Amino acid sequence: MSVSSEAEVLVEKGGAIGVVTLNRPQALNALSLSLMKALVDALEAFDADPEIRVMLVAGSPRAFAAGADINEMKDLAGAAAAESALENHLERWDRVGRLKKPVIAAVSGFALGGGCELALACDLVIASETASFGQPETLIGVIPGAGGTQRLTKAVGKALAMDLVLTGRRLNAREALERGLVSRVVAPEALHDEAMKIAATVASLAPLAARAAKAAVAAAVDRGLDAGLKAEREAFFALFDTHDQKEGMRAFAEKRLPKFTGS
Ligand code: CAA
Repeated sequence: MSVSSEAEVLVEKGGAIGVVTLNRPQALNALSLSLMKALVDALEAFDADPEIRVMLVAGSPRAFAAGADINEMKDLAGAAAAESALENHLERWDRVGRLKKPVIAAVSGFALGGGCELALACDLVIASETASFGQPETLIGVIPGAGGTQRLTKAVGKALAMDLVLTGRRLNAREALERGLVSRVVAPEALHDEAMKIAATVASLAPLAARAAKAAVAAAVDRGLDAGLKAEREAFFALFDTHDQKEGMRAFAEKRLPKFTGS
């Protein structure tokens, strides 16, 4: 399922890994209406594809994405016009957050505005040393509109979120790692291979357990503690109805590698 290099996103299947690469480097991968539609359509197709177990979203070396496309928004006449033009667009970031299979973001260069919000909507972010993260929307007269005020604050806490949103300053990769916005930082030339390695590890897990783990960790962020613990417990017990739970535990006891079937 590869598409031509003219496309705004490149879609590839590598075994159980679905890779979507943002491909508008001349505009620093600005997330236009058409690019976001293509991205989310590709990710949702992977989410529904039984061969795919994990997804990877990547950008180009200079930019993961420098935000929503300012040119498409600059002349919108008023709140009603903005809402009608952009509501479905902004909802696409939430659709990334609602994917059932784990999603890894491999971030190199700028991850600003909607680009930072896209990384935040993924489950696991691996960054190149060149990565920089920020929500500079207030510098152009708006605020983050694709979940940044909420997801960034949950990721890094109020103090740093206020700092980034109210000053527009950028975090470099090391600061982003220290503050919990990303999971790992690697050399620029190692980013793709490391991201694929992590994806391969996730793809080797029992698929239903990987999905349940993602949903349970997300519940810790998205719900109160009691509701999150209840969701975790329910998913934990539900996995005892699967073949892969028996296979995984028996394989451990028998000192062999498990053969997961996704059932
Ligand atoms: N929208 C549209 N085009 C963009 C863009 C964006 N968000 N970001 C960069 N580009 C374009 C530039 O217009 C430029 O195009 P031309 O060559 O045709 O002039 C090209 O990408 C290269 O950009 P620069 O020349 O500006 O490159 P630079 O190295 O000097 O600066 C940068 C890089 C600091 C990232 C700068 O491009 C920048 O500040 N971009 C905008 C960042 C931003 O404000 N993002 C938030 C957008 S709003 C949003 O995302 C709302 C939301 O919550 C969903």
